Amino acid sequence: MQIGGTTELYAVLGHPVKHTLSPLMHNAAFKELGLDAVYVPMDVELESLTSVLPAMAEMGFKGANITVPLKEGAYHSMDILGSSAELYGSVNTVSFTDKGLRGASTDGYGFIMGFREAFDGLTLQGLNVLVLGAGGAGRVVAMACAEAGADSIIIHNRTLDRAVTVCKEIETKRPGVIVEAITSPEDKVDAARQADVIVQTTSLGLNPDDEPAIEKEALRKGQILYDLVYNRGETRLVATAREAGLRASSGLGMLLHQGVRSFEIWTGQMPPVDLMRKKLEEALTCSN
Ligand code: ATR
Repeated sequence: MQIGGTTELYAVLGHPVKHTLSPLMHNAAFKELGLDAVYVPMDVELESLTSVLPAMAEMGFKGANITVPLKEGAYHSMDILGSSAELYGSVNTVSFTDKGLRGASTDGYGFIMGFREAFDGLTLQGLNVLVLGAGGAGRVVAMACAEAGADSIIIHNRTLDRAVTVCKEIETKRPGVIVEAITSPEDKVDAARQADVIVQTTSLGLNPDDEPAIEKEALRKGQILYDLVYNRGETRLVATAREAGLRASSGLGMLLHQGVRSFEIWTGQMPPVDLMRKKLEEALTCSN
């Protein structure tokens, strides 16, 4: 990669950001397509976001990804919100345009595409889904399931209020889907037994000694489990679910496809998806 005076600038903003894999996939895609562009990580605290984004516009940045914990802050800092940002109430993709900062959310698209790819084209239409977690990721996943036509969505969270808030948001934006917020371990087991699909969105599993977000006894053969955690390749939960006869996958595909969609938004070009996937897989293999 040759950086010069005409090189277009892209970044991922987060805090912390040093573990991000996004530069690997985007820089590989720029190179493959022969684009004069570079993508760098930038550690930005929430308090600084409102001054950093206009400064980036001033400096001529073309685009930025926004990651944890800045996505809701970014939503409130945009001049223009795309329909995806409106739907998910968060922004992970910023375009610096002549008309100002334009925000989009590609996480829901990433989840749907990652899920479909992991399970041979399966869609969520008509399925009963249990979402574990109601943080930023849980909120996006639950809304994406509603958008994709799931019949019912039960959200389990340690803190009930957060799950209730997500349910209310879905009821407002996508009425007609059955939603329920739960918090007790017993309700979680009951909901798991009745679910067609379980999506694990909490941070449990990021550390090797974390308790599993759901116990093996609550799982049954034939179900689908998608674990958004991917930092260790296959998580313990994914391995356990497979042992119990489920079809299970980690969430690397969600990371990949949210990035693919961001790339398309910024450049108007379809990036080399397989190359980007390879870069992510290589990075995980090296770090484990
Ligand atoms: P993200 O944007 O990655 O979703 P987040 O918004 O901080 O991050 O949400 C983290 C999620 O993991 C939440 O659902 C959180 O539950 P609470 O809302 O009760 O905090 C969940 N989580 C984190 N640590 C957990 C733990 N030890 N046990 C159960 N849930 C946990």
